[in-house]
Amino acid sequence: MPSLQAQGISHRYGAGDTAVLAVDEVTLSVESGEFVGLLGPSGSGKTTLLSILGGLLTPTAGEVTLGGVRLAGLRPAALTELRAREVGFVFQTHNLVPYLTARENLEVVGSLLSGNPGRRRLQERAGKLLDELGLADREHHLPSALSVGERQRVAVARALLNDPSVLMVDEPTASLDTARGEEVVAMLAEQARRRDVAVVMVTHDERMAAAATRSLHLLDGRLTEPSPRVASDR
Ligand SMILES: Nc1ncnc2c1ncn2[C@@H]1O[C@H](COP(=O)(O)OP(=O)(O)OP(=O)(O)O)[C@@H](O)[C@H]1O
Ligand SMILES: [Mg+2]
Repeated sequence: MPSLQAQGISHRYGAGDTAVLAVDEVTLSVESGEFVGLLGPSGSGKTTLLSILGGLLTPTAGEVTLGGVRLAGLRPAALTELRAREVGFVFQTHNLVPYLTARENLEVVGSLLSGNPGRRRLQERAGKLLDELGLADREHHLPSALSVGERQRVAVARALLNDPSVLMVDEPTASLDTARGEEVVAMLAEQARRRDVAVVMVTHDERMAAAATRSLHLLDGRLTEPSPRVASDR
């Protein structure tokens, strides 16, 4: 069963004359371990679609299914819990808490997880992730003392802390130079493969999509190419 399925998703912001149809009848599915690039110009609906796929935003039409569970059928508390357990987000800006160190930024999220796995295990997991992402010697730094790429990697580590089955990543390379951007993307691809996570990564940049197992293109809220599900060739 695919990790993530969207059936006929549309999203309209506002009403009447000022309404914007940001996403227009999108159908797609993503398997575990797949790394999907979501490309399209500014305003094409990428962030809106990503937010819907991750259960942060309820579409005005259509349905999202995550790990076999229909999001529309859930009460708000159950949706929040499912999201906390199954979904990781990395936003366009890193969104780290400025007065907490890299490690504390991970631990604070862990402490909010339902079915709290316990402080000790979270600390271990945070340390291991920071280590894997090449941040072992940066864990006690504040975000202001990290490079932009390091901050983005902390944000990725934080998103993986709950061991999610899907990871939604919005423009992780927007503020990075090409080499740093490629590093972050390669790292995401590696994490998807190793942890068998379904990753959807929004980007403007075709070069960054090269690491993806498949790319989808959005234009004015619509997928512009047929997007057959391909078995990952790894
Ligand atoms: N909260 C909102 N209220 C009204 N319109 C919105 C809202 N958020 C986005 N839009 C509109 O919906 C459309 C899609 O926006 P979205 O942010 O999804 O695009 P995007 O592809 O992520 O763009 P970018 O690459 O600039 O981040 C745009 O026309 C935008 O102006
Ligand atoms: Mg966006």
